[in-house]
This record gives sequence, C-alpha cells and structure tokens, in this order.
Amino acid sequence: MHAAELVVANRALAFENAEKEKRAAELLIANAELAFQNAEKEKRAAELVLANTELAFQNAEKEKRAAELVIANRELAFQNAEKEKRAAELAVANKELIVQNEEKERRAAELVVANKELAYQNAEKEKRAAELAIANIELAFQNAEKGKRTAELVAANEALHGALMNTVRVAMILSELRDPYTAGHERRVAEVAVAIGAELGFDKSRLEGLRVAGYLHDVGKMIIPAEILSKPGGLSAIEYSLIKQHAQAGHDVLKVVDFPWPIAGIALQHHERMDGSGYPQGLKGDGILIEARILAVADTIEAMSSHRPYRAALGIAAALAEIERGRAITYDATVVDVCLQLFRENGYRIPE
Ligand SMILES: [Fe+2]
Repeated sequence: MHAAELVVANRALAFENAEKEKRAAELLIANAELAFQNAEKEKRAAELVLANTELAFQNAEKEKRAAELVIANRELAFQNAEKEKRAAELAVANKELIVQNEEKERRAAELVVANKELAYQNAEKEKRAAELAIANIELAFQNAEKGKRTAELVAANEALHGALMNTVRVAMILSELRDPYTAGHERRVAEVAVAIGAELGFDKSRLEGLRVAGYLHDVGKMIIPAEILSKPGGLSAIEYSLIKQHAQAGHDVLKVVDFPWPIAGIALQHHERMDGSGYPQGLKGDGILIEARILAVADTIEAMSSHRPYRAALGIAAALAEIERGRAITYDATVVDVCLQLFRENGYRIPE
C-alpha cells in the first residue's frame, strides 16, 4: 500500500471516527436528555405520590367524618324513636286523661243533679218539719187542754168514786146493824179477800171491786127476820132455807147499781162451792166468779174465827184446817193455798 493510500485510508478512518464520536456525543446528549426527562418524570411521580397521599389522608378524614355522622344519625334516630315512643305514650295517657275527665264531668253532672234533688228534698223536709212543728204546737196546746180537762174529769171521777164508796159503807153499816151479832164481819171478810186477791196479782181496781163485794156480799140478809139471824142454837129447815135466800136477795138489790165490777154476781155466788154443793144455783168450778171463790174462803175463815150467837169462836187454826179439808172439793185450791200461806207463813192476821 502506498502512503497516499494510507493517508486517504487514515483520513477515511478519522472521518469515520469523527462520525462515531459525533454519534456518541449525540447519544450522550440524547442520554442526558432522557435522564433529564426521567428525572422530570420521577419528580412528577413523587409529586403524584405526595398528592395521592394527601388525597388518601383527606379521604380517611372524610370517611372518619362520615362514620361519625352515621353514629350521630343513629343517635338522632334512636332519640327520635324514643321521642316518638314517649309521644305515643303521652297520647295514650292523654286519651286516658280525656276519658277520666269525661267520666269526672259526667259524675260531676250527676252530683249536681243529685245535689239539686237533695236540696229539693231538704227543702221539702224543712217545710214538713215546719209543718210538724206547727202541728206539734197545736197538739201540745190540745194536750194541755186535754190534760186540763182530764184533770177536771179525774177530780170529778174521784169525787164520784168517793161518794160511791161512802154509799157502799152506808149500805154495809145498815147491813151490819141488821145483825149486830156479826158486827164487823163484812169489813173483815173484805180485808181477808183483798189480801188473797193481792197475792193472786189483782190490780188496784179489781182489788177495790173485791173490797166492795166483801162489804156488800151479805146485804141480802136485810130481808131475813132479825130473830132468825140472831137465833142461838140450831135452825129449822125452813129457817135455813130463808137464810139461803140472802144471796139472791143481795143480787137483786145490787144489780140495780151500776158498779164498774160484777158486785151483784159475786154476792149471788158467794155461797156456791167448787163441787156444786153450794147455793143458790149449784154452780161448779170455773163457772163461779173468782171473786166469789175468794169470798167463800174469806167468809169461812172470818166466820169460824169469830163469835156467833149459837157458838163460841172456833179460832183461826180450826178455820184454816176447815178450808184445807175442803181444798179442791168445796174451795178453790189456789185460793186455799194462798190463804194458808198468808196465815201460816206470812204471819197475816185478820184486822180487828
Ligand atoms: Fe153470806
């Protein structure tokens, strides 16, 4: 090879080297350009990462806030539910109160009506009470008048009664004068009869009737001749039949007097006996007035214990023995028992 050719070959190689160095420089530039671009891209990526992180933080904050809002909403919903429940309860309570109020108003209205009714009734009662008060005053006035009139009538009655008893005593005295040997017999029989009647529970009026009957039971003896009444010794059959007529005669006289007691009937029956053996009608048991049954016992007691024209006094013991013998036969058993108790146990004695 020649030098020129070498030179040319050198020159071609230098050119090629320059071309290669130029190409390498361009590549370096391109690489630097790429590196710069990559750095830019990395910077941008870092900025994006930063921005993403910021967004993620903001999202987390938003989610936290949203969760808090959910909780707050739930709380509000629960409170609302509570309020609605309470409101419903209050509504029920209000309805109940309304019903109670209506009931109270209805009751109040009824009470008003009842009060009016009571007020009306009270007014009626007061009116009635006033009328009664007036009527009471009127009655009190009438009672005072009646009391005054009654007192006058009682006084008049007592005066009349006193006059009657005086008349009875006059008749008794006349009867006793007719038969002086038995003086005091009627009065003493009356005393014994009244003592027995009191033991039997007779009231005051009935005892007074018994006393009058005792005074007057033998008033019929006025028709019997005095010599027969006072005859000593025994009597003939005719004389005895005359004596027996005093019962009927006494009845006939006494029946015309309007006594408040059956005096005539008692006088008629005072010689009747329980077994029918008496006179004048031969009555038996309960057919004889109780007053006549008492007088029969009292008459026997008094007669046997007193003196008589035809005999001496037999004494009270004999008289009691006599009625005891006749107990439930001729004399009433209860009357005899009372009489025996009076004399034997109670120490009773015939007044002088
Ligand atoms: Fe008699």
